[in-house]
Amino acid sequence: MNRILVTGSTGTLGRPVIALLHRLGADVRGLSRHPSHSSPADSPALPADGPLPAAGPRTFRGDLATGEGLEQALAGMEAVVHCASDTRRMGRTDLQATRNLLDAAGRAGHPYILFISIVGVDRIPYPYYRVKLRAEALIEAYGGGILRATQFHDFVLGGARLAARLPIALAPDVDVQPISTTTVAARIADLLDDPRPGRAPDLGGPEVLHTPDVFRSYLTAAGSHRPVLPIRLPGATFGAFRRGAHLTPHRSPGPHWSDFLQNHFPGTPTTP
Ligand SMILES: NC(=O)c1ccc[n+]([C@@H]2O[C@H](COP(=O)([O-])OP(=O)(O)OC[C@H]3O[C@@H](n4cnc5c(N)ncnc54)[C@H](OP(=O)(O)O)[C@@H]3O)[C@@H](O)[C@H]2O)c1
Repeated sequence: MNRILVTGSTGTLGRPVIALLHRLGADVRGLSRHPSHSSPADSPALPADGPLPAAGPRTFRGDLATGEGLEQALAGMEAVVHCASDTRRMGRTDLQATRNLLDAAGRAGHPYILFISIVGVDRIPYPYYRVKLRAEALIEAYGGGILRATQFHDFVLGGARLAARLPIALAPDVDVQPISTTTVAARIADLLDDPRPGRAPDLGGPEVLHTPDVFRSYLTAAGSHRPVLPIRLPGATFGAFRRGAHLTPHRSPGPHWSDFLQNHFPGTPTTP
């Protein structure tokens, strides 16, 4: 598939996805409420208006929650990679956004849609995951594809940074299987080469690590001597994470968490 719209193209995953598809020669465009936030490094020449540039993806202005701008963004598209999510508000607008996207796609010639979801959304009663699961059902009814991935390196780093704001860093006493967004982007590109409806095999990071160890490795790399305290919480959600419902045996070869840290903090030892 060559003409591809990436929703959430300014996000953690959307940026490497749009950069990779562009490098692979696709006629790719992004969708964002704020096209000016697109990274020039990842997506050169990104005017919010005006004619398509000869080189570089264009980011279309649009709001999935209202449906504004979707008709223009979808015009002529063969496929959509749906990475957008209201992540800061636990997916509050995600169902309406997905409905709006599917309705607009139906009017625009029914392009293939690949939805990005999370491993374990059907096993963990976390409110955001419940929204993702319901969005998956909408995608399935449309005939789209679904790729579930484990937690992104950047997301885990965000958690570690947040924990490090306290004098003692509190770390959930659960495992994590962090994955590089470049690995997820590469799988997305493969799936677009052979578009199928329904769920693709889950995609997980190369190793399962204990979150307190991950936070310690971040603190060491960042030069901090803060202690890390593993914490357990009551409830079904934490219990499901404790049982590893967010992990998958489908492991990608790399990069590893240590490679990611090395990129952010040169001098950190990498995985041999
Ligand atoms: N983070 C993880 O560890 C992880 C793991 C597995 C799967 N996932 C899934 O992967 C997807 C991407 O996650 P991410 O971490 O890249 O998210 P992110 O960095 O928070 O980016 C969210 C993107 O969604 C866009 N967006 C939000 N609301 C929108 C709206 N109403 N209209 C148009 N665009 C909207 C934002 O664009 P603007 O603000 O520019 O409009 C932004 O580009 C999500 O579906 C997430 O559930 C995440």
